[in-house]
Amino acid sequence: MSNDLEELSSKAATEIEGATDPRVLEQMRVDLLGKKGRVTELLKQLGGMAPDQRKAFGEQVNRVKETLSAALERKAQQLGDAELARKLASETIDVTLPGRGEDVGALHPVTRTIRRIERIFNSMGFESVQGPEIEDDWHNFQALNIPESHPARAMQDTFYALDGSRLLRTHTSPVQIRTMKQRKPPIRIICPGRVYRVDFDRTHSPMFHQVEGLYVAENVGLADLKHDLMRFLSLFFERDAEVLFRPSYFPFVEPGADVHMRWGDRWLELLGCGVVHPNVLSAVGIDPERYTGYAFGMGVERLAMLRYGVDDLRLFFNNDLRFLEQFR
Ligand code: PHE
Repeated sequence: MSNDLEELSSKAATEIEGATDPRVLEQMRVDLLGKKGRVTELLKQLGGMAPDQRKAFGEQVNRVKETLSAALERKAQQLGDAELARKLASETIDVTLPGRGEDVGALHPVTRTIRRIERIFNSMGFESVQGPEIEDDWHNFQALNIPESHPARAMQDTFYALDGSRLLRTHTSPVQIRTMKQRKPPIRIICPGRVYRVDFDRTHSPMFHQVEGLYVAENVGLADLKHDLMRFLSLFFERDAEVLFRPSYFPFVEPGADVHMRWGDRWLELLGCGVVHPNVLSAVGIDPERYTGYAFGMGVERLAMLRYGVDDLRLFFNNDLRFLEQFR
């Protein structure tokens, strides 16, 4: 074998053996055996040789070509195996580790209670309607028979806008005003929603929820009110509710009552109600000689506390997962 060929062969073999990168190895293959590779160039020289020289040289070059090509292939295989092993090692997943798990969310107890109240009243023929939380004095007070400087305004510690023109509704009763202005009797609605008062302790929160109820038609009276509320309470608490109607005062009803329910050995106040005051009907353009109605307003948190046995109303608004997770 010629010295040049010998040198080329052994040098290339050493380089191939030392390769660590598959891309470098591929470049070596192209440099040696590619179309313009060094070994390929040697084969091209064969054409210009004398026949006896050509045979011997041709055999030698071919042998070198086969040796190098085998070496390249072996090395490529090695590098590929190593690469694969590295990948497998780095992407290992330990399938025996316990999973992280996924928590299932749940509706807030106040939302659940509102939906429960709605479901019961909807089944009794009451339609759910909504109204704005930012109100004006007329809808929240005046139309409800609470004129300016009426002492009953002190019953509700109101959040007023700084310019005094608007307020956060202190009850859901303005929604009955808005509905009666838009519709003709018979009207049978409930209005669930947020209300706001300047108040904060174990049983009061500055934001809480009420459900207002209103039924206006011909010949609606106190007996209808009592019947419908007792039916609601026994459906809500799933027992025969022992209920007490105690006279009370709200400017927008006459007569008015607080409803109490027996809870163990105590009477708990659940809601306010009464027969809609004629002044309220007149304020919204409904003829009080022809139509009468009843209204009630209940605190959702109060009902939720009783149903779920919660003794501090603020728990509903702290968003403590240890509390909320109990309602899944
Ligand atoms: N709006 C009253 C309150 O917030 C509740 C109520 C509604 C009472 C309807 C009577 C009739 O206290």
